[in-house]
Amino acid sequence: MKLFLDTANVEDIRKFNELGIVDGVTTNPSWISRDSKGRSFREIVVEICREVKGPVSAEVVATDAKGMLKEAREISGWAKNTVVKLPTTFEGLKALKILASEGIKTNMTLVFSANQALLVGKLGATFVSPFMGRLTDAGYDGVQLVRETVGIYRNYGFRTSVLAASFRSPREVTEVALAGADVATLKPEQVDLMLKNPFTEAGLKAFLDSWASMKK
Ligand code: G3P
Repeated sequence: MKLFLDTANVEDIRKFNELGIVDGVTTNPSWISRDSKGRSFREIVVEICREVKGPVSAEVVATDAKGMLKEAREISGWAKNTVVKLPTTFEGLKALKILASEGIKTNMTLVFSANQALLVGKLGATFVSPFMGRLTDAGYDGVQLVRETVGIYRNYGFRTSVLAASFRSPREVTEVALAGADVATLKPEQVDLMLKNPFTEAGLKAFLDSWASMKK
């Protein structure tokens, strides 16, 4: 399973990229605005694309297909590894169909049902982004959405990669990996939580205490 970072913070991207675990990056208008520090959308995306070799998703803000297509074609020209993120609406699907025929990579976002994912797969998106956490927050089973999407895509041989998004706990990373998700996109602090384990820390401390008490 690939790991993407869900952030527009270049320092965080650099930190994990040095470790060699960043296969790509996803951004959204909220992350871009939070980390803009006076830079333009384009400047931020280009900087991230230089830092990371893998796909970097950048989202359109138009809500009509014509406007989405204009923004998508611009974004796709900013760097070789940009992926255009589009909302999963009727207009988003119209834009997706045309972009797929032009060979422009797409990430269909804000997916909250397996039926939306099915439509996205039929139209040949590069990635589909089921937003698990927001469903979980509302009392539904967010991971089930990923299971259903993976199952449907396998049944019909859809080539769209399932990019599990909007995590709420490290356990969900294990669950979507078992479900066969192609990618998990995580906020930087969530990658830290994947590694952090009190038993590892306590075990290491015990080993080091034993070692310190020994005559050298
Ligand atoms: O990739 C999903 C992310 O952009 C949204 O996550 O935590 O706001 O639901 P969250």
